[in-house]
Amino acid sequence: KKGSYDHFMQKEIHEQPHSLTTTMRGRLKDSGVVLGGLKEHLKTLRRSRRVIFIGCGTSYNAALAARPFVEELTGIPVTMEVASDLLDRQGPIYREDTAVFVSQSGETADTLLALEYALEKGALCVGVTNTVGSTLSRKTHCGIHINAGCEIGVASTKAYTSQIVVMAMIALAIGSDQLSTQPRRESIITGLSSLPSMKNWINDLPCSQTKCHVSEDAEMKDLASSLIDSESLLVFGRGYNYATALEGALKVKEVALMHSEGMLAGEMKHGPLALVDENLPIIVIATRDSCFSKQKSVIQQLLSRKGRLIIMCSEGDISAVGPSASCRVIQVPEVADCLQPVINIIPLQLLAYHLTVLRGFDVDQPRNLAKSVTTQ
Ligand code: F6R
Repeated sequence: KKGSYDHFMQKEIHEQPHSLTTTMRGRLKDSGVVLGGLKEHLKTLRRSRRVIFIGCGTSYNAALAARPFVEELTGIPVTMEVASDLLDRQGPIYREDTAVFVSQSGETADTLLALEYALEKGALCVGVTNTVGSTLSRKTHCGIHINAGCEIGVASTKAYTSQIVVMAMIALAIGSDQLSTQPRRESIITGLSSLPSMKNWINDLPCSQTKCHVSEDAEMKDLASSLIDSESLLVFGRGYNYATALEGALKVKEVALMHSEGMLAGEMKHGPLALVDENLPIIVIATRDSCFSKQKSVIQQLLSRKGRLIIMCSEGDISAVGPSASCRVIQVPEVADCLQPVINIIPLQLLAYHLTVLRGFDVDQPRNLAKSVTTQ
């Protein structure tokens, strides 16, 4: 049921404080995380030579968001595989690998075929899914349900943030035997428990039946109306928020039917810079983390080419980012750097939503797409 919402996508975006709470319920303790589904396999996981994340679309992007902190907390190299590409290449997988399959539905054909392939190669196969009893949860050796609740809108929103949180908990569980990273683990646990109550974006539950529920929502609607006639939208991110750029662009593409590309800001000079002019809107994600000063210089370079920028920065950071008067700014609350993607995606989900409504397209059933892609 949509309740007071106009669309499922809108409802599911606003449900995230709740879905994140249910994802963490009973699993997050002051002393660490308790993941029943992995307990028996933690030793094998710790000994693995490599973690391979495998998924499609939004689920792939969630795994990409998790990659930096999984590497950091476990010390195990992580490689990324789009399921169809792994199959096309018949890429090497070994017994010493742990393959983590990420899928909201647990029924995506490419992901399941990649699972068959990894099982044949003898890797430990872990599932991260939202669907209890799905083929993925039945066929993997072990796994964690994200417990985000049923997702009906074709565009995945709340499952994305819950997937990232589950992978953070997996990383914390694998790394829990390492003394040197204990303070870092503690700060991530504190960050995780603060997520559902983060002010602004994530905690702005609808307060009325009006179309725009809260000021941030209204802000994104206003931004969407300024982009309504654009042909294209670029999103530049790096580090923890490269995945946010890909996922934000995917949302805009699939529901608002607008061309949009997420790009690694570090690659800007190697081609994309040629596209920059005063018409093409570019979102630059420049929230606080170790890449902040690099993103500031990207902003300066784009401004010197008269780029039309929308800057996403941490709350109160506008002057530090140094936008020109012509830039639009999206301010987001700050959380532990590696969890920032959970917050940063929300305004982009709202932007895609409003852009779709304003452009008059079907939000919950985008043209040509299905919720579960069960064919290759
Ligand atoms: C985008 C979207 C798709 C799915 C992809 C994988 O919003 O929903 O990109 O993420 O089809 O689906 P699952 O996660 O069910 O394997």
